[in-house]
Amino acid sequence: MSRYFLLLAFGFATLGLVLGLYMGIRQNHGQLVTHAHIMLVGFVLTLVYALCHRLWLGKPPAWLAKTQLAVHLMASLVFLSALFMLYAQWYSEDILGPVLGLSGIGVLLALLLMFWMLFRHPAMPSE
Ligand code: HEM
Ligand code: HEM
Repeated sequence: MSRYFLLLAFGFATLGLVLGLYMGIRQNHGQLVTHAHIMLVGFVLTLVYALCHRLWLGKPPAWLAKTQLAVHLMASLVFLSALFMLYAQWYSEDILGPVLGLSGIGVLLALLLMFWMLFRHPAMPSE
């Protein structure tokens, strides 16, 4: 699992840095919020999940770990795409607001699932 999260984190980092460089080159910081969240929700949070699997999680049920990964992946992709579309002014806030709200709740839900797994299935001291 930690490897999936690690590869995903670096995928997001690539996207986020390309967007950051694009903003710098174009001298147009309109996508600042999208860049910041791709780096923080996409890269940093995903990397933290990789470390959780590597260092602090014991053996949570496979279905639970897979569900947490799926919820985090789906919610982050929707959340970050909706942010990009909002700041690119492709669609109005009326349309994207509920999408951002629901996907944001999805990101939070995945965080709570990880919290639960860390609480219920900690690594043994020798692991
Ligand atoms: C190639 C590397 C990067 C480039 C070219 C880049 C570029 C930018 C630019 C142009 C802005 C907008 C600044 C503004 O308008 O005030 C920005 C903001 C930001 N970047 Fe990056 N960035 C890079 C790497 C990173 C990394 C590695 C992270 C975090 C892990 C990060 C997190 C942020 C955050 C949180 C903001 C928002 C700061 C604020 O609210 O003022 N960036 N970046
Ligand atoms: C689903 C989860 C999240 C939601 C709904 C959310 C929402 C927001 C909103 C509405 C803003 C203000 C944007 C603006 O200036 O117009 C913001 C800014 C910010 N958020 Fe988040 N956020 C989320 C997750 C995170 C996470 C996980 C981090 C850090 C690990 C983070 C770090 C920041 C930072 C540094 C800023 C200020 C930079 C900026 O202006 O973009 N956020 N967030």
